[in-house]
Amino acid sequence: MLHSNAEIRRRIDALGPWFHNMELAGVETAPDHFLGNYPLIKWRKFADAIPADLSGKAVLDIGCNAGFYSIEMKRRGAGRVLGIDFDEAYLAQARFAAEIADCDIEFQQLSVYDVGALREKFDIVLFMGVLYHLRHPLLALDLIREHVAGDLMIFQSMQRGSTELPALDENYPFSTHDLFDRPEFPKLHFVEHRYADDPTNWWIPNRACTEAMLRSAGFETVLHPEQEVYFCRAANEPAGGGAVYPSKGQLHD
Ligand SMILES: C[S@@+](CC[C@H](N)C(=O)[O-])C[C@H]1O[C@@H](n2cnc3c(N)ncnc32)[C@H](O)[C@@H]1O
Repeated sequence: MLHSNAEIRRRIDALGPWFHNMELAGVETAPDHFLGNYPLIKWRKFADAIPADLSGKAVLDIGCNAGFYSIEMKRRGAGRVLGIDFDEAYLAQARFAAEIADCDIEFQQLSVYDVGALREKFDIVLFMGVLYHLRHPLLALDLIREHVAGDLMIFQSMQRGSTELPALDENYPFSTHDLFDRPEFPKLHFVEHRYADDPTNWWIPNRACTEAMLRSAGFETVLHPEQEVYFCRAANEPAGGGAVYPSKGQLHD
């Protein structure tokens, strides 16, 4: 379908506000983004680490927002791309962006906590910029590991605090206290109210915590191409036996 620039501008305005800045037939969706030209500036830092040809691959983009990464996966020839988000307003943006980009992508309203309902494993799972928006971040990682991670997970989280990685023992006596005052000890900072004016920023990990959570959920990091971005494989058995709370997929068994 052909759209005039004026029509695209009108639709972009009607679907806003946008978090993803994208050029839709030359018209930008969020030119004043507080992070700059986002997520293009982030994508450029790790795009080369993803195979240029994703033919035949099934991709799940969790928390897809307006579909920037879903569209990039489709542009690399992924066979099936499914974008999920629990926010219907963002999904409407994603459907419009994919239409303008002429990309055949499926978008579904679904929470990360319900990925079990998909009953499908994906070659690539994108889990970018969602962890810190969750009240139950480790549960989400456990559910992804259990239900949808078939091979590679591309993960990103905002991080705050120390970027050092501590040398930790397997165990410590109960009397140990000062360990917890070390800035590089894995820490998940709880935001009760707001961070960056956003009441959905709940838990912000430091680097050591990010990496420990991924390991604990049964993911092995195979590449760390950018400070916040990790390429992981579903490798190890998750600690604690995996997801403790059943997804919708399991509830109906
Ligand atoms: C900061 S944006 C990240 C968007 C995109 N993945 C990226 O990296 O640019 C967070 C997205 O996660 C979505 N989200 C938050 N909680 C979610 C949940 N429980 N299930 C699915 N999506 C969720 C939000 O609606 C939003 O689109």
